[in-house]
Amino acid sequence: MTIRMTINGEERVYHGDPQDSLLTALRASYRLTGAKDVCGEGFCGACTVHVNGEAVPACLRPVGLLNGAEILTIEGLAPQDTPSALQAAFTEHDVVQCGMCFPGMVMSLTAFLRENPAPKRAEVKTALVGNVCRCTGYERIIDAVMSLQNTEGAQ
Ligand code: FES
Ligand code: FES
Repeated sequence: MTIRMTINGEERVYHGDPQDSLLTALRASYRLTGAKDVCGEGFCGACTVHVNGEAVPACLRPVGLLNGAEILTIEGLAPQDTPSALQAAFTEHDVVQCGMCFPGMVMSLTAFLRENPAPKRAEVKTALVGNVCRCTGYERIIDAVMSLQNTEGAQ
């Protein structure tokens, strides 16, 4: 089965097993390793990418269901030397420690902020329910998101 997807703006053809997860395809076939393989079961959010604009755990999406899909990974979110406002806020607030959760957090929050550009603190907390961070604690992450209120948003 041939699966065609657009990944970070480039058309890609996947010739592997349609039961493979999107995470496997991204990491093993396309060397896009920003989405992290942590729990593999949809619990931690470290593998979050956008599929047709929606933030989803790539470990739970069989690639066979993604023919024609638009995929955005952390690598395609912003040019390497120009981080998004959210990425810059994470850096300013010293959010990142081991970094395993960071790409998934950014992808989840980017989708969230697109729909909710001026969220309340409690809403940010709820938006993070699917993303686990074992190092930083969530307060600084939420501080970083809230600091965007007076900027141009997360994009
Ligand atoms: S690796 Fe996908 S949710 Fe944890
Ligand atoms: S920075 Fe280590 S899991 Fe979040």
